[in-house]
Amino acid sequence: MKVRESGMPPQDVWDAFFEVEAILDNLGFDSSVADVVEFGCGYGTFTIPAARRVSGTVHTMDIEPAMLQVAARNAADAGICNIEFTLRDFIAGGTGLPDQSVDFGFLFNILHEREPVLLLEEARRNLRDGGRLGIIHWNCDEKTPRGPPLEIRPGPEQCRSWAIEAGFTSTGESIDLPPWHYGLVVQR
Ligand SMILES: C[S@@+](CC[C@H](N)C(=O)[O-])C[C@H]1O[C@@H](n2cnc3c(N)ncnc32)[C@H](O)[C@@H]1O
Repeated sequence: MKVRESGMPPQDVWDAFFEVEAILDNLGFDSSVADVVEFGCGYGTFTIPAARRVSGTVHTMDIEPAMLQVAARNAADAGICNIEFTLRDFIAGGTGLPDQSVDFGFLFNILHEREPVLLLEEARRNLRDGGRLGIIHWNCDEKTPRGPPLEIRPGPEQCRSWAIEAGFTSTGESIDLPPWHYGLVVQR
């Protein structure tokens, strides 16, 4: 089942909402990372820059064939070969990755899902011991130019509480990711 309120505007509109390299830096996503799982690639906004930084594979998936096609084409145009694109419903069937197979997970702009703890549990299952999960989401501010309705938009404290419920033991402070987002990094 598609995550509620997870449709996308045109790519140029979406990409303009993010300072992608600064966001990855602020999440501590660096070349020490080998393998990654990303829940929902969208246009590959984060997938492709992430793949440039890592020594292993970025495993990404999306429920929309059209999003996967665009993201895969963007990756090919950029000459990136270390991304595994999979057409998959991660709500219905999880990621399909083995236990403890990645160092870093991305739950970006997706935790307004109806059952966020299930997604966090799945991300935790995929992470190696000591692996980290980056969460980013729209600030809970009506001035943001997009984002799910405020009634279903989680803030950093809510995400931290869900992460603990999902079994993460180490949760950091909320990170400001201007202009419109916040981030959180939790560790298995
Ligand atoms: C709001 S977009 C965010 C994309 C990307 N994470 C980013 O921040 O640029 C959410 C993406 O998740 C995908 N998606 C929604 N529900 C999904 C599901 N159940 N399984 C796989 N992908 C899903 C949507 O098709 C969309 O591409």
